[in-house]
Amino acid sequence: MAEVIVAFDVATDSEAFRLADALPDLRWAKIGPTLFLRHGPAVIEEFRKRGIKIFLDLKWHDIPNTVTGAVRAARELGVDLASVHALGGAEMLAAAAAAGGPVRLAAVSVLTSHTSASYGEAVGRADADVTAEVARLVRLAAANAIDAFVTSPLEVEAMRAIVAPETWLVVPGIRLGGGDPGDQKRVADPRTAVRAGATHLVVGRPVIGADRPDVVYNQICEEIA
Ligand code: C5P
Repeated sequence: MAEVIVAFDVATDSEAFRLADALPDLRWAKIGPTLFLRHGPAVIEEFRKRGIKIFLDLKWHDIPNTVTGAVRAARELGVDLASVHALGGAEMLAAAAAAGGPVRLAAVSVLTSHTSASYGEAVGRADADVTAEVARLVRLAAANAIDAFVTSPLEVEAMRAIVAPETWLVVPGIRLGGGDPGDQKRVADPRTAVRAGATHLVVGRPVIGADRPDVVYNQICEEIA
């Protein structure tokens, strides 16, 4: 069954733990740069004490040696999943995977905030076909020992067809019907994403911005059960 990863995109650890207290069924927390830069390893330690799995989403994109060091440090912290950018290239991806051990590495393909126009602008191509680009990056990462990928809900079905059955497809850009997409451009509802082949849904604002985060979290879990 697919799992829900809540993105703890909040400003402080007290806010994060208050939110975690309000989510008794929480299994996964995604820790991003804001919380990690403010509170560092302590915030991960506290989540782990609560039995919650950690996705450390710092999206490393650096030279292989530097990324190896980051992955080793994540391993020491007991992180379960960490992200790297597929655009870091073959050598960096292989180095990250080799350093991971129990830390699974997820390769970010094309950010869910990109349209084909904005991605094309970034990579210097007028007509970037985002799905083809995601497939290209997924193949590159898979060839370099990466077995989890971050894609938007719009590419997940096509990626499921080209990766091994046990591969994790970690999918942000999740919105409940009619939900405000914010800066996300490639979005879908939880059930659509899971039917297309997502194994993990990353959900931030729809849960953390809700008056009753527990109600929205449970609704998502029910939708994908
Ligand atoms: O608030 P929202 O549900 O849009 O949050 C999505 C989360 O997933 C954010 O923490 C964002 O950093 C992360 N993410 C993403 N797109 C990617 C990789 C990660 O939105 N390609």
